[in-house]
Amino acid sequence: LEIYFNALFGVQPQWPMAFAEWEAKALAVLPPSVASYVAGGAGDEFTQRANVSAFERWGLYPRMMVGATARDLTVDLFGMTLPSPLFLSPIGVIGLCAQDGHGDLATARAAARTGVPMVASTLSNDPMEDVAAEFGDTPGFFQLYTPTDRDLAESLVHRAEAAGFKGIVVTLDTWITGWRPRDLGSGSFPQLRGHALANYTSDPVFRARLPHAPEDDPRATAMHWAGIFGNPLTWEDLPWLRSLTELPLLLKGLCHPEDVRRARDAGVDGVYCSNHGGRQANGGLAALDALPGVVEAADGLPVLFDSGVRSGADVVKALALGATAVGVGRPYAYGLALGGVDGVVHVLRSLLAEADLIMAVDGYPRLADLTPQALLPRPGR
Ligand code: FNR
Repeated sequence: LEIYFNALFGVQPQWPMAFAEWEAKALAVLPPSVASYVAGGAGDEFTQRANVSAFERWGLYPRMMVGATARDLTVDLFGMTLPSPLFLSPIGVIGLCAQDGHGDLATARAAARTGVPMVASTLSNDPMEDVAAEFGDTPGFFQLYTPTDRDLAESLVHRAEAAGFKGIVVTLDTWITGWRPRDLGSGSFPQLRGHALANYTSDPVFRARLPHAPEDDPRATAMHWAGIFGNPLTWEDLPWLRSLTELPLLLKGLCHPEDVRRARDAGVDGVYCSNHGGRQANGGLAALDALPGVVEAADGLPVLFDSGVRSGADVVKALALGATAVGVGRPYAYGLALGGVDGVVHVLRSLLAEADLIMAVDGYPRLADLTPQALLPRPGR
């Protein structure tokens, strides 16, 4: 209602209300190389576009006269009750989208204000302890890019535990960077230039490996980091990962049902269906197309989902296809670029308001009502 009345009475005219506008305005204010980094994807971006268009192939069946006056969007996840099924996907080097460079802190503050959990990237401009300190009562998750240095991986996980994160999300699809023509063309792989290494340079294990203090030789520090960044994990590594923590452990990047079954058998607590927003490998399926198979193979384990979510309608469709919680990536990066913490809050509240209204109008007042039976494939698509 607040969003509606603000719009009706012109209180909040400065904010775009739909994704296309957020994107266009944000890309216009960001430096071109940063705009490329955020907006770009792998190859000719076919998979990135497919992630978005996959949602158009589904339509929600409206149900009338169910009295959906009060909606319940709360979700139970790992023993916590979250106010909504939305979460903030990890975005590395997000500081580039914030005027003061502290995009991770801004995102964490938006999480605190909305109750929408943040999955904080390993590649952050501020150490994870500082990020977690901004969460307030909202739970946060730590996304691990697993370095080849196992002691360092262990140290990062233990720091995340000590900082109060509620789960560890291990990203599997980015031990090597994909073919990204926009970044390659603009010469901008910001992470390689040493931005967002705060979790490493603040780490005692990382520091002990260097012959100098990280601050004294940023170039050599970045070189050392680049050399240990990505561990091409195999299933043989999973027991070791599992042994690192008692916190819920999730694997990000799973799309094949067989991989989901293996992960489940190895004792993970949740799976995260995603193709990294189409940034890593072109020519693949839309992540949404993989979701039903992942949900079936997960067999009751929580399934987080992202890639291509641009509206409240998309959130509702992903939930109906079985996602337990739905993540957004680029939309909030654009919100951050346009309006800092307030911009991220605005993006999240708009997505949630639209999802809530769809559940009201279409007669699905509880998340449990959103099942595959609520959807029809659109004819002719
Ligand atoms: C990402 N993503 C990502 N994922 C991850 O596990 N760790 C990371 O550090 C990053 N970094 C990152 C940077 C940028 C600029 C983007 C856009 C994305 C992937 C992210 O978590 C998520 O999977 C996608 O962004 C979801 O797709 P949409 O919502 O952007 O379409």
